[in-house]
Amino acid sequence: MANEMKIVQTIEELQGLIDRNKRGDRTVGFVPTMGYLHEGHLSLVKQAREQNDIVVMSIFVNPAQFGPGEDFEAYPRDAERDAGLAEAAGVDILFMPTPQEMYPEDGGIRILPGPQSTALCGVSRPGHFDGVLKVVLKLFNIVDPDRSYFGMKDAQQLAIIETFVRDFNLRTSIVRVPIVREQDGLAKSSRNVNLTGNERAEAPIIQKALKKGEKLFEQGVSAAEIEREVASYITQNSSGIMDYVSLLSYPELTKYDGTSGGAILACAVVFEKTRLIDNIIMSTKDGLYV
Ligand code: PAF
Repeated sequence: MANEMKIVQTIEELQGLIDRNKRGDRTVGFVPTMGYLHEGHLSLVKQAREQNDIVVMSIFVNPAQFGPGEDFEAYPRDAERDAGLAEAAGVDILFMPTPQEMYPEDGGIRILPGPQSTALCGVSRPGHFDGVLKVVLKLFNIVDPDRSYFGMKDAQQLAIIETFVRDFNLRTSIVRVPIVREQDGLAKSSRNVNLTGNERAEAPIIQKALKKGEKLFEQGVSAAEIEREVASYITQNSSGIMDYVSLLSYPELTKYDGTSGGAILACAVVFEKTRLIDNIIMSTKDGLYV
């Protein structure tokens, strides 16, 4: 597509643009985001750029996926900066709808994620994944992408969306993109900006703890013991409060018994104004670490 990025706010305009450009066998890659872009998002765009003719990004802080008392208001926003970064990264069409455009009315229909939502963030954020699936389905229907790109930092979200696409025959392929980290190991997140100076200095302890857990996993230590070790390492070395640490099968997100293709060691840590998540996916074969 032409170099100049188009910014659109309405569904009608977006669909008109996509229809005009998606001729013949030109493919559309889609990067859904909530904005305040960082290198993690830009790595999604990079991959979408390499694999598709047209790259569409959405920026929408989706109220439906925030519960009461969560950080919907405090979620960082900077539309102008985001537009510059998106264009430089090679986005062709940036969709920035208003809440009114996305949710002009609500008929009360809910999409309920299955068992994968009963672990990890699904426990501490009830209804969160219902809201994610609602907006993701709307966005998939609006954009009609050939491929959609999701980061592995939100590994539970990704696993649930993969199941959703499979179970409902949604016509897009989900592409998993690895976590991008700061030099000191902290996973890039829009929410990192809400850490205080001290908390930012402490936060790399999260990945260090997960790596310790990964080593224990290699040595055959039990899931319960690994969870205990990771939690105590984080709480002893930071002011963060553990929301959870769990070692589960991935992508099933059930109790880890070594029969699944992979395992995930995931955690959520609550700081004063923000809650950070991180994970390590560990491949296994016949129950053995590979
Ligand atoms: O991962 C996110 O940023 C959001 O959950 C998503 C997928 C854009 C839906 O609002």
